[in-house]
Amino acid sequence: MNAAIIVAAGTGSRFGSDVPKQFLEVAGRPIVVHAISTFERATSIDSVIVVVSEDRVGYATDLLSKNNFTKVTAVAVGGDTRALSVRSGAGQLPEEAQIVLIHDGARPLLNIGDIDAVINAAKSKGAACLVAPVTETIKRVENGIVDATVDRSPLRRALTPQAFRRDVFEAMMESGDSGLATTDECMLAERLGFEVAAVEGDSANIKVTHPHDLLTVEAFLRSNG
Ligand code: CTP
Ligand code: MG
Repeated sequence: MNAAIIVAAGTGSRFGSDVPKQFLEVAGRPIVVHAISTFERATSIDSVIVVVSEDRVGYATDLLSKNNFTKVTAVAVGGDTRALSVRSGAGQLPEEAQIVLIHDGARPLLNIGDIDAVINAAKSKGAACLVAPVTETIKRVENGIVDATVDRSPLRRALTPQAFRRDVFEAMMESGDSGLATTDECMLAERLGFEVAAVEGDSANIKVTHPHDLLTVEAFLRSNG
């Protein structure tokens, strides 16, 4: 069986709204609900763990039952960093979970094909990162002066979900590194020397970060029903 941990315990400081961005409604449902419902519909997923801040546990539990999610097996309390929130969710993983996926609750536009693709890559390689090309011209800047134009052809943006075989995931969680300032789990796997497969995903799978991202998400969800 395969389990997904959806982290939604952040405060959204860059977004700057009173209600954390992942709970704002877009196209009739909170952002995190769009994310959970894609995992709920994926036949490759058996269990979903949702991680929220302590003051949101009651709200999240109500939200999950209102949406009749049948695969959500636990609501966990997040930590001060994303890495700690993942660690908290990991404590609720079912014993039988063979592949563990980590997904940002602030990414409502993932698709089931990408979930299946990272699961398959993790099965064969141990760890898999969903990625998308970098489309802008990239400059390296030092002290306000452009130092170089970087060759973007080998560069990729890291998306989620990221997937790990259970043995690899356990090694990551047991390593003293897991509390470090890693912004994604693949970085932890890389540091521990695991090979991480790069899986080309849908570039529409943005992380809501700033208020203008809501316009993109809204337009996308409405045009895709
Ligand atoms: N996250 C979490 N626990 C934290 C920090 C982040 O569960 N302590 C989650 C967020 O809720 C989000 C995902 O990790 O779904 C990606 O993080 P990010 O986009 O950086 O969200 P925030 O940390 O909330 O935003 P910001 O960095 O702007 O404060
Ligand atoms: Mg953050």
